[in-house]
Amino acid sequence: MKAIIITGGSKGLGKSLVTLYNTEGYKVYSLARTINSELKDVNQISVDLSNVSDSQLVLNKVMDEILNQNPSSITLINNAGTLGKMDTLQEIPSENIETTVSLNYTTPMIFCSIFSKKLENYKGVKKIRNISSGAANGAYHGWSVYCSTKSAMDSFTKVLAIEQENNLSPIHVLSIYPGVIDTEMQAEIRKSTQEQFSNVERFIEMKKNNDLSTPEQIANLVYKIDHDVSIKNGEITDVRDFY
Ligand SMILES: NC(=O)c1ccc[n+]([C@@H]2O[C@H](COP(=O)([O-])OP(=O)(O)OC[C@H]3O[C@@H](n4cnc5c(N)ncnc54)[C@H](OP(=O)(O)O)[C@@H]3O)[C@@H](O)[C@H]2O)c1
Repeated sequence: MKAIIITGGSKGLGKSLVTLYNTEGYKVYSLARTINSELKDVNQISVDLSNVSDSQLVLNKVMDEILNQNPSSITLINNAGTLGKMDTLQEIPSENIETTVSLNYTTPMIFCSIFSKKLENYKGVKKIRNISSGAANGAYHGWSVYCSTKSAMDSFTKVLAIEQENNLSPIHVLSIYPGVIDTEMQAEIRKSTQEQFSNVERFIEMKKNNDLSTPEQIANLVYKIDHDVSIKNGEITDVRDFY
């Protein structure tokens, strides 16, 4: 049995990942706030991943359930993420900064920590794929929280890989930039005003010109990257290099 935990599996890229891995024979556990009735044969668990303590309890429980089934491989995809409120930093309420940082950064890092500890003596295949963003390397007006949380995700991905180097059975961990995908996140971006997000016109144009990838296309590329044994541990990958 191959097991996979996917966060944010209810819609967007996560939903396509859940569907694909399920079709490929994985036992899928999807963690999101809402349950998607279209997703059959998937273990869906409702949890607010910006609530760090609830999230830890859920992951511990899911991992115990998976380990009891003697899987040959366990994968964690940290996919859930949000832009939070798009605006200049001074206009973003503290609570919004806090929940966005928790969802995009704190919970994924804690999940990596719990995953590593629980699987310390596990000899099967163990992989973590962190869905990051090209925004990690940019400085986009209105996206201070998003850019910085994705940079932070890349950073702990690289450190975790180094820490795993001398393990007999190391976790293989990657960051993946998924490109621009036609999901609710993009619809949110297009609703911004110029004052909130100065690049908004570029994203409106991309949608008009049909330049967005579908979630299904990107899920296939994430799957390809996930199974590419030539990729070194700790790499920051971009789906656009795998078309
Ligand atoms: N779309 C793009 O162009 C793009 C570009 C670069 C990177 N990315 C990254 O790709 C990933 C997926 O993005 P997407 O476009 O598919 O986003 P999306 O359509 O907005 O979906 C986000 C997913 O995360 C879940 N989620 C959001 N807040 C949550 C919370 N508090 N607790 C639990 N789950 C939560 C949502 O489920 P519920 O609402 O049911 O909780 C949903 O399943 C994100 O990490 C994003 O940063 C996207």
